[in-house]
Amino acid sequence: MTSGMENVIILKHPMVKRDVTVLRSKETLPETFRAVVKRISTILAVEISKEFKVDEYEVETPLEKTKGFKLENEVVLVPVLRAGLGMVSGFLAILPAAHVGHIGLQRDESTLKPVEYYYKTPKNMDVASVILVDPMLATGGSASEALNYLKKRGARDVIFACLVAAPQGINKVNTEHPDVKIFCAALDRELNDKGYILPGLGDAGDRTFGTL
Ligand code: PRP
Ligand code: URA
Repeated sequence: MTSGMENVIILKHPMVKRDVTVLRSKETLPETFRAVVKRISTILAVEISKEFKVDEYEVETPLEKTKGFKLENEVVLVPVLRAGLGMVSGFLAILPAAHVGHIGLQRDESTLKPVEYYYKTPKNMDVASVILVDPMLATGGSASEALNYLKKRGARDVIFACLVAAPQGINKVNTEHPDVKIFCAALDRELNDKGYILPGLGDAGDRTFGTL
């Protein structure tokens, strides 16, 4: 029997636990919220990139030739608008050569279904390591739909990174995209009747951009 968590990596780092706590606090203002999202995203990028393969090549130091390494595949980072934008700079700190695509999805607050309003990704999707980023995995509707769009455009090697996940969202992505690993900074308890994660951190887009 499987636990349904085979594809899920939850960061255990003490600084991540501390930083998620800062995000949860309703006292945290957008300025700090953005800085902390960036820091956690950097740690997520470090963890995720451990999975990447490297090619060897020869490099010449001022003294002699030696073995060097480069990533085997290009990386494409795809934030889900709007809240995913807050994670981009943290990822680019570790993966500076990544191409960046965008998917605009917004949950219809009555049906909780994601509605697409923007899509633009680079051409190399089929050969790249693609990382989809969105701070919140709640019902999983947005992540699963975004993964459908990426795969339709040719993506074959995709990882999903979020800050806070709910069991329902993990279950949906695991079921509909069993090939996609999920990295998250925290796994929370449940959703409320409006589809918000509990205990969660509220609306990630509003807290990032100060639109509360
Ligand atoms: C939030 C979040 C995810 C989605 C998660 O976006 O950033 O995209 O909700 O919910 P789900 O797992 O139930 O689909 P939202 O729709 O609030 O848009 P915003 O980023 O523009 O605020
Ligand atoms: N989207 C958010 O921004 N927060 C939640 O708790 C759920 C979906």
